[in-house]
Amino acid sequence: MRKLLVTSALPYANGQIHLGHLVEYIQTDIFVRYQKLIGNTCYYMCADDTHGTPIVISAKQQNITPEALIASIHKDHVQDFKAFNISFDHYGSTNSEENRCLAEEIFLNAKEKGAIYEKEIEQYYSEADAMFLPDRFIKGTCPKCKTEDQYGDSCESCGATYAPTDLINPKSTLSGAEPILKKSTHYFFKLSQFSEQLQTWINSEEHLKPELQNKLQEWFKTGLQDWDISRDAPYFGFKIPGTTDKYFYVWLDAPVGYIATTQKWCRENDIPFEPIWKNNEFEIHHFIGKDILYFHALFWPAMLMVSEYNLPKKLHVHGFLTINGEKMSKSRGTFITARHYLEKFSPEFLRYYYAAKLSGSIEDIDLNMEDFIYRVNSDIVNKVVNIGSRLGSIVTKKLNEKLTTIDKAGHVLLDEITAEKESIAACYEALDYAKAMRSIMALADKSNKYIDENAPWSVVKDSPEQAAIICTTGLNALRLLTIYLKPVMPELTQKIEAFLNIPALTWQDLDTCLENHTIQPYEHLAQRIPVGTAL
Ligand code: 2FM
Ligand code: ZN
Repeated sequence: MRKLLVTSALPYANGQIHLGHLVEYIQTDIFVRYQKLIGNTCYYMCADDTHGTPIVISAKQQNITPEALIASIHKDHVQDFKAFNISFDHYGSTNSEENRCLAEEIFLNAKEKGAIYEKEIEQYYSEADAMFLPDRFIKGTCPKCKTEDQYGDSCESCGATYAPTDLINPKSTLSGAEPILKKSTHYFFKLSQFSEQLQTWINSEEHLKPELQNKLQEWFKTGLQDWDISRDAPYFGFKIPGTTDKYFYVWLDAPVGYIATTQKWCRENDIPFEPIWKNNEFEIHHFIGKDILYFHALFWPAMLMVSEYNLPKKLHVHGFLTINGEKMSKSRGTFITARHYLEKFSPEFLRYYYAAKLSGSIEDIDLNMEDFIYRVNSDIVNKVVNIGSRLGSIVTKKLNEKLTTIDKAGHVLLDEITAEKESIAACYEALDYAKAMRSIMALADKSNKYIDENAPWSVVKDSPEQAAIICTTGLNALRLLTIYLKPVMPELTQKIEAFLNIPALTWQDLDTCLENHTIQPYEHLAQRIPVGTAL
């Protein structure tokens, strides 16, 4: 059996969870639930990413301290993730003592090994605001793609990362004033020193998919730039040891949060930490969006190399979400928060819809409302739930809630379903959930066809015994399909487990049948979404 430590990217603590975020958390959660279902040891860690200038800006706008902001956002995030059944083993915060200690430890270690140096740089300073302008307090035109109104650290349009001094036409976002250049000492991480090691890591053992390996080669071609890991006060974050006015750049302590969150949870639950991050007993799997590949495939492994923590086994990279074919946008009314979605629809339906769309590639996925309603109604309600409702009512009303045995014809159907277990398992492992969902729905079609052809509702009039055999077969088919769907739809699974009157299903249960067993009275498992329902 394998042991895995799985993470999703840490969401910034300055805004609500929205449907774009949920692509990643749902994708990761399905993977984690699948690993647990097949019996692997799997821990799922995440946390709020709490430092940096955007947090300061949001707090300022709301007239509260950054600490108050991150505390209130933390509550919201926890509540939203819970509502979508994202099953973190621990959800922490990068603003923790564990994270401060680990960030300091990694920094000092790297410094000792000569991987960090100090350099005086010229930085933008706003005389009007009497402060150095960190990257988020400065906007201008992207030096690479020339998109206007971009922040000083990275471009939202082309994804390039750069220094604020590379911006064309820089302006202070506080006063609008044009900044001047002033000298300041910064700390740099010698990324270039790790070039060879990183290249070897990137191209070995399928740590990344070939398309990503190729993409990363571009960065090596131009040569890796050393990384400015410090920011001048005022900043919200961890002070760099030995300084009075320098802070770690948020992207230094953010990924350290993966380790710190694990450590805190291990301490609280008496679970050994060393095997997870220190001696390669665990596989580390990071799920991220394609916009933060640079950080996770270059900076982060280099930090881990120098401080001798385990390197990730895999980086799973996904694309973005579009809504009705377009980027989510506040002005078009397609910026949809998790909470807003929940006012209209079940979390299970979004989980299913995303699963049906996600194939493990970095292609963007689209949420089209008409297609969403159609898919949920035709797959979940008309195919899966339909098996339960058609047979459940017969067994409840006419057969005393009793299942009997399965005959030869019934075993033919059930064998067809279990014959796909390896291929469905492989799909989950490869994150090709779309293919898994297609297989499961094709098997649900076969099950419904079996029920149509055997018509237990008319057979029951003359032969309740024969009707019971048909219903037992059909409900066993539902049970098997439920095991396949369990990583995707935990709430529906629970309802079906309660209805079938069985303990929590595991993957091993694919090898058994449910016979001579009393079930519970049938109750609605899921309702159709009225066509035309809008978000
Ligand atoms: O891009 C983001 O939303 C970052 N908050 C992700 C951080 S992931 C990790 F490195 F902490
Ligand atoms: Zn750009």
